[in-house]
Amino acid sequence: MKTPSAFYKPLAIGAPTPYREMPISLERMIHFVPPHIEKMRAKVPDLLNKVDVVLGNLEDAIPADAKSDARNGFIQLARENEFGSTGLWTRVNCLNSPWFLDDVMEIVQAVGDKLDVVMLPKVEGAWDIHYLDQLLAQLEAKGGLGKPILIHAILETAEGVKNVEQIAAASPRMHGMSLGPADLAASRGMKTTRVGGGHPDYAVLSDTDNSGVRTAFQQDLWHYTVGKMVDACLSYGLKPFYGPFGDFSDPQACESQFRNAFLMGCLGAWSLHPSQIEIAKKVFSPDPAEVAFARKILDAMPDGTGAVMIDGKMQDDATWKQAKVIVDLAQLVSS
Ligand code: GLV
Ligand code: MG
Repeated sequence: MKTPSAFYKPLAIGAPTPYREMPISLERMIHFVPPHIEKMRAKVPDLLNKVDVVLGNLEDAIPADAKSDARNGFIQLARENEFGSTGLWTRVNCLNSPWFLDDVMEIVQAVGDKLDVVMLPKVEGAWDIHYLDQLLAQLEAKGGLGKPILIHAILETAEGVKNVEQIAAASPRMHGMSLGPADLAASRGMKTTRVGGGHPDYAVLSDTDNSGVRTAFQQDLWHYTVGKMVDACLSYGLKPFYGPFGDFSDPQACESQFRNAFLMGCLGAWSLHPSQIEIAKKVFSPDPAEVAFARKILDAMPDGTGAVMIDGKMQDDATWKQAKVIVDLAQLVSS
């Protein structure tokens, strides 16, 4: 390959800010750990060989009376383990909770040198990011931290979705965003009781066939929001993620939801249960057959311009760029 096709943007890496020059890393699954439970903390060393990111969850699913145990448990697990290339994130409580300030202050002061990303829930607008951005800047300066801690926003309120572009643009510290389908469903007044995934009644009916029978085709409830989030993220060089899938008894539906998000541009999803680690790894690593075909396109168009036919299909500058996304990801997975 000579020169890359004009306007090709490397995978989810955007504006030339100091923070964005950080190495691109694999983040196919953000694995949630409840850090107040000792048995769960004890599993972290084993997880380090299996997951791309370990996240200590302090927010929803952690009972109110265990919030400070979770915070202390996270500090302990951060101190006790060497994370190497595995990312270390925490999900703090939301800004208007009684726990947010202590979460950020205590964790950054204790283990800020090991922390890669703070995941901020229920982000509604740029002002939420500005607040955390300044707080992190103060704590980094106070602690003499050399590496900036990044911010990952959860898109999980109607207002947040409305303001998604301003959120993406709010700070060079922005790492990316995840869809939070459970809170978003509540915020929007959707009539569901699920954590992500589809709903059998959200479907389009076919016309009747000769026997008067109709078929229902279930639709993706999250298509609109994921599309909006992906566009906002990629416009500002951030990484988009699907969030949680709560029905652990249905790995097939989980895989299908993750795959829709992958095909729409997401780079990973949350794993809330160990069984979802392998699902995410499979879905968010490109399929070898797709990679082989993508390589054929790159080989056939060394400078990324022109038009060629491969296996009966027309390829041009635009498919070269699609192929490059897949090949770049395959290289990252194998490195
Ligand atoms: C995640 O936080 C969600 O609300 O889905
Ligand atoms: Mg939520």
